[in-house]
Amino acid sequence: DKGNYRHFMAKEIHEQPEVLGHAISQYLKFNEGKVALPEGNDFDFSKINRLVISACGTAYYAGLTAKYWFEKYARLPVDIDIASEFRYREMPLGEGDLALFISQSGETADTLASLRYCKEQGMTIGAVVNVSESTIARESDLIFPIFAGPEIGVASTKAFTCQLAVLASLAVLAGRQRGHLSDAQEKELVGALSELPAHAMQALKLEPQIEKLAPWMSKKHHALFLGRGTSFPLALEGALKLKELSYIHAEGYAAGELKHGPIALIDENMPVLVVAPFDGVYEKTVSNMQEVAARGGEIALFTDEKGAEAAGVAANQMIILPELPEIVAPLIYALPLQMLSYHTAVFMGTDVDQPRNLAKSVTVE
Ligand code: F6R
Repeated sequence: DKGNYRHFMAKEIHEQPEVLGHAISQYLKFNEGKVALPEGNDFDFSKINRLVISACGTAYYAGLTAKYWFEKYARLPVDIDIASEFRYREMPLGEGDLALFISQSGETADTLASLRYCKEQGMTIGAVVNVSESTIARESDLIFPIFAGPEIGVASTKAFTCQLAVLASLAVLAGRQRGHLSDAQEKELVGALSELPAHAMQALKLEPQIEKLAPWMSKKHHALFLGRGTSFPLALEGALKLKELSYIHAEGYAAGELKHGPIALIDENMPVLVVAPFDGVYEKTVSNMQEVAARGGEIALFTDEKGAEAAGVAANQMIILPELPEIVAPLIYALPLQMLSYHTAVFMGTDVDQPRNLAKSVTVE
């Protein structure tokens, strides 16, 4: 049931404040300012030397974001790869280490094959899944449900942000267990995550402004998304969402990679969508933006007030988000990117809920 929405995707985008609130309530003890795992799924991250993550598509981008978190907050090295490569790589794995598989459906063939490979190597298997009765969940030692509720739109939206919410919680837990976060730091991060629903609500208010970008976007044949740090996986996700929904060719790049090749593409016909909250790497991204502006590229900048002030170059378009704690920024910046691809697709008249050639659950290789 789409309720009052035109598409499931719109409904699922707008459900995010609610489902994020539900997801974090299962992992965070707000009053105590602590992370606590769902019953029966306790895990001690201080016992492992390395975390291995494998997933496909949008779920892989959630894992890529989590790598930054686990490494920063828990000093836990993370190896992550797309499942279709991971399963054939014959990677040496540490017995007893944890392997995490992220999958909305819990049925993705390559992710499942990667899981089985890790199991044979004697690893502990954890599943970050939406469907708790799925094959991936059933074959795992630990289940970390994302509580997004059924996702009908083929393009993942609320599952992505709920995956991130769960992974952020796990990273904070790992940080405390491994002695890299004090109780006070844990409390601060839990406090930040507890504001997710409110921030998501704020981000949804940007919709009319983002909808206005759709006619502009729809005239383009290509688009480049740039981001640094945790905004890099978001740039990849923004590009994936745009290409699958509107069939506009889009690429996501780490902003720092620009001069290593993609800058050759920049001219007045190349829109560049920059994801850059005013964080520790913001200045670096601005200098990449200047390189784009100098070559006539058209820039749409997703940032906050401070970022807008410090931008230094005239971005052609600016979408201003609230100022956010570092750990919640990737989740909230996902929303305007989802809305951009949604409205571009609606404007172009493509099949938003069932883009051509795509299936919701990829159970064959
Ligand atoms: C993109 C999208 C896909 C899935 C991927 C993995 O919007 O939905 O990239 O993320 O096929 O699917 P799951 O999470 O079910 O394993």
